[in-house]
Amino acid sequence: VRAFSPEYLRTTREGMWRESRAALEPLALGTRDRVLDVGCGTGALSRVLAEETEGTVIGVDADLGLLRIAREHVEVVGGDAHALPLPEDAVDLVVCQALLVNLPDPERVLQEFARVAADAVAVIEPDNARVRVESTVDAESELAARARAAYRTGVPTDVALDETALRNRFDAAGFRSVQTRSFDHTQVIEPPYGEDDLEAVRRAASGAGIAGDRQELLAGGLTPTEFDELRGAWRAMGRTAIEQVRDGRYRRREVVPFTVAVADVPER
Ligand SMILES: C[S@@+](CC[C@H](N)C(=O)[O-])C[C@H]1O[C@@H](n2cnc3c(N)ncnc32)[C@H](O)[C@@H]1O
Repeated sequence: VRAFSPEYLRTTREGMWRESRAALEPLALGTRDRVLDVGCGTGALSRVLAEETEGTVIGVDADLGLLRIAREHVEVVGGDAHALPLPEDAVDLVVCQALLVNLPDPERVLQEFARVAADAVAVIEPDNARVRVESTVDAESELAARARAAYRTGVPTDVALDETALRNRFDAAGFRSVQTRSFDHTQVIEPPYGEDDLEAVRRAASGAGIAGDRQELLAGGLTPTEFDELRGAWRAMGRTAIEQVRDGRYRRREVVPFTVAVADVPER
């Protein structure tokens, strides 16, 4: 299991459900008494679910360190998405966000969700093949695309779950009547810069982020020399960004398409 830091989850989820929660409408949260958020991490989605339902929200994750943060907001329990620590029909709705992209057998996980859910299963997954980056640093968009393409090839899971891919997964897991809806999660760095913006730019300049993905990038086809070149270009891009931040000129816009897929639990 890939480890996620609380900082990574905080910055990547920042603002995701702040402006609009229209994409959550098919979950009918107002009608649910018990909602389970699987792979809840620090509880970024669990908090939104708790705001949208008067019922109980329970978070499950395999990483007990992350659950310590989620626990401040919702009930939590440690556990594996493939074998949830709950009996059949324990909740009305099972939800996950950015979990299936990390697991090699999403069908199996959806079937486990169907065991525990009495009514419905919903997943919210990113399509990492269609991420778009625009930046005032010329090289940034192209470097980000190159790293993402190699990463996508190098990871053993499907990290590009669009509407078609999710429909196919639900069908394969035995669900019918799947509803899907897509939306863009847009994150912007621009003046006045917040502390998170500055941290993101410093991280690019240090090469720390890309160094953390070295193994996946090599598995994705980069030679060690090509990886070193990419990292060098990445750090140079980060240094240019820092200079532009000093002048108040740096702007970056990243769009990550997400799909929400919801289906009733099939009859047993
Ligand atoms: C990308 S994070 C998403 C966290 C949270 N849902 C969010 O949107 O911020 C993926 C989460 O799934 C958890 N996870 C990965 N594999 C798991 C498994 N087999 N069982 C339970 N949790 C798992 C990780 O620990 C991590 O918290």
